[in-house]
Amino acid sequence: MSKKTIAWAKVYGEDEGAFEFSLAGKRFIVVCKHAFAAELLAQRPFKLRRGASTRESVPFEGLFMAEGDQWRQDKRIVGPAFSHKHINEYLASIKCVAERLVDVLASPAGGEEARTVEVRHVMYCVTADVIAFTAFGHDFDSLRRCCPVLDALKQLFPIIMLRALSPVQYWKLPLFGQRLDGCEQVVTRLTRAVDHIIEERRAVDAAQSEQGREPPFTVLRKMLERSAAEPAKFEHRRVVGNLLTLFVAGADTTSIAMTWMLYHVAKDAALQRELAAEVTPLDMALLSMEELSCSLPRLRSLFYECLRMHGPAPTFKFQNEFEDVTLAGRTYAPDPSRVFLVMAGYISQAAEAEQLGVGPEPDKFEARRWLQPDGSVRSPPADVVMPFGQGVRLCPGKDLAMLECLVCVGRVLQVFALALTPGHSEVGSQTHFTEQPDRDVNVVFTPRTGKKE
Ligand code: HEM
Repeated sequence: MSKKTIAWAKVYGEDEGAFEFSLAGKRFIVVCKHAFAAELLAQRPFKLRRGASTRESVPFEGLFMAEGDQWRQDKRIVGPAFSHKHINEYLASIKCVAERLVDVLASPAGGEEARTVEVRHVMYCVTADVIAFTAFGHDFDSLRRCCPVLDALKQLFPIIMLRALSPVQYWKLPLFGQRLDGCEQVVTRLTRAVDHIIEERRAVDAAQSEQGREPPFTVLRKMLERSAAEPAKFEHRRVVGNLLTLFVAGADTTSIAMTWMLYHVAKDAALQRELAAEVTPLDMALLSMEELSCSLPRLRSLFYECLRMHGPAPTFKFQNEFEDVTLAGRTYAPDPSRVFLVMAGYISQAAEAEQLGVGPEPDKFEARRWLQPDGSVRSPPADVVMPFGQGVRLCPGKDLAMLECLVCVGRVLQVFALALTPGHSEVGSQTHFTEQPDRDVNVVFTPRTGKKE
């Protein structure tokens, strides 16, 4: 439906800024101009909430799905774990995963041998490993070995997607509804695996405390402290639900961003030369988060542009279940059959985006778009380019995602020359839970001579 809605936005939304259509008993109000999107998004988090179909199709509780007071509570615990201070603490784990990535991409034969790799799968393991370090303080090491938690999570995505698209909520049928799509079994397996990791982590933290050492900061530790202080308000199932949420919200999205970055680098030799020249002199192992961010303007520009043109969440879906919402001079009373769609990806690529800070030819991919004449990089205008959402429910993992992309793609560029496999077809997008590449991205990694290691 997303391709069709974009086509309609071009035809019906360009002048008015919004249009409506009905489908399967729902009335969709599609917002495709920046000013209307801003008006609507300002009415979150209480008037306007996530679409019920999104919330109800996810079989556990956590920040992404929460609303009202529950959201406030989750946000108070999960949000601070992604402050600059803590992200700097996670940097060592990101660098460790980046080194493993470099090893995995190298040919087993060693030397100058090239290796061809389908990058999407590998990048998923990278992001999941980073989240496991930051969320649990646990080493999945899924780049190098099989990981039951990730296998179960991969089974969960298609189930969530099936539920979100299903016209009937079959999983709510008494007795067997939860079993129809295998969800119950997958969630039970996941919960057991996560419980096991939590117990292990507790034991390690306790041992470190006994030795007078401060255990490392993790989202898990923060949640366990909170759950112990207020067990009725922050129950154990919310601890587990919020951990799973970080994987569901963070692993797929970040790996898609990295896959697009590698695709464009492999496709465009001139861009690759410029980026390689930028990363080659750096000693990544020594740089702090701020130093990395300042030293990599070209790579950051590529990151911003990949998210603008290929963001994994190009459409936001909302409903007003309890309160009136206003849009373009009209008031909409609560109605469960009404859905507001904000075409965030479309807005950042539409003609009006040129004047709103995106610059010339906003419908074209331009890896150097965000570079300034003095060589520094500017951030895209946050209310026009919204790959991480907007306002109070902005993605808390956005800085972690950027740091991970800079370190991992930067390190790969230091060690390898990249090329697409001969005859590789143009990669487009498809919607599959998130918006993602519509085919495998096969990249040949050849060690650079005189590489920096
Ligand atoms: C390139 C990578 C990523 C993209 C494009 C992305 C995108 C998004 C978007 C569009 C939202 C919804 C925002 C809204 O409703 O306005 C969101 C929410 C969220 N993201 Fe991300 N995300 C990424 C990485 C991450 C990472 C690495 C994590 C954590 C490990 C994470 C955790 C979350 C959480 C917990 C929420 C829910 C926030 C709330 O509802 O208050 N995301 N993300």
